[in-house]
Amino acid sequence: MARPSAPPLLALSGVFKRFGAVQALRDVELEIHAGEVIALVGDNGAGKSTLVKVIAGVEPADTGTLEWQGRPIHIGRPHDAQHLGIATVYQDLALCDNLDVVGNLFLGRELTRIGVLDEVEMERRTRDLLATLSIRIPDVRRPVAALSGGQRQTVAISRALLGAPNLVMLDEPTAALGIEQTAQVLDLVERLRDRGLGVLLVSHNLGDVKAVADWVAVLRLGRNNGFFDVTTTSQEQIVSSITGASDNAVTRRAAREGEL
Ligand SMILES: Nc1ncnc2c1ncn2[C@@H]1O[C@H](COP(=O)(O)OP(=O)(O)O)[C@@H](O)[C@H]1O
Ligand SMILES: [Mg+2]
Repeated sequence: MARPSAPPLLALSGVFKRFGAVQALRDVELEIHAGEVIALVGDNGAGKSTLVKVIAGVEPADTGTLEWQGRPIHIGRPHDAQHLGIATVYQDLALCDNLDVVGNLFLGRELTRIGVLDEVEMERRTRDLLATLSIRIPDVRRPVAALSGGQRQTVAISRALLGAPNLVMLDEPTAALGIEQTAQVLDLVERLRDRGLGVLLVSHNLGDVKAVADWVAVLRLGRNNGFFDVTTTSQEQIVSSITGASDNAVTRRAAREGEL
């Protein structure tokens, strides 16, 4: 599969991020185009969540170049990313159990009319959004605690989509889900791509990756360690890139000497 010739939605290069003694990201590059699902994979501690946080402006890069649709940009805080149209669903689901679906979607950005919460309009927009995404939740006025794990994850993703983003990042969205629920979330990821969004999907489930991603970017010990076309790459190739079985001499030596 060829990548589009238009400038990517987001391109980053030379990204470094350090936490105290830990060099979490080292000279990382990545391009995400509209209408693509890129899976970001790697072992625990490889730097996947850190990269998501860099792009989301939660943990800005120490150094590095970022471009949005071909123009240099700086993402120094979450507002910068939101302003560009980058939405993030974090690993630990941030939903309020006691609030209903409408309340969770509009938490922190409630609609008001003449100074009063406009429940009718918020509920209408919630139903519209869920319908557009073909998400079936029978009662949007039930506390989300009563929903299944898959439904909760789709609510968390819908919440991120309320601001009509161009790029959505999902950090391990299926980690806590069963097979059926995982399928619901992966279906939703496909619909996001069909709507022309760029999607960065962090996962360490290669089944999920094979099912929905177009490209796989591998991080190992905070560095890029491969970029593959999902349709033409075997699971074994991806695994060896994750575990380091396909490391070259330079990476092996650096890992041995504790540099990475
Ligand atoms: N806030 C933080 N403070 C200190 N170290 C961190 C912090 N966040 C991540 N790290 C470290 O950075 C490395 C990469 O972590 P992370 O990005 O969470 O990896 P992954 O998501 O691939 O499992 C790990 O060694 C982790 O311990
Ligand atoms: Mg992580």
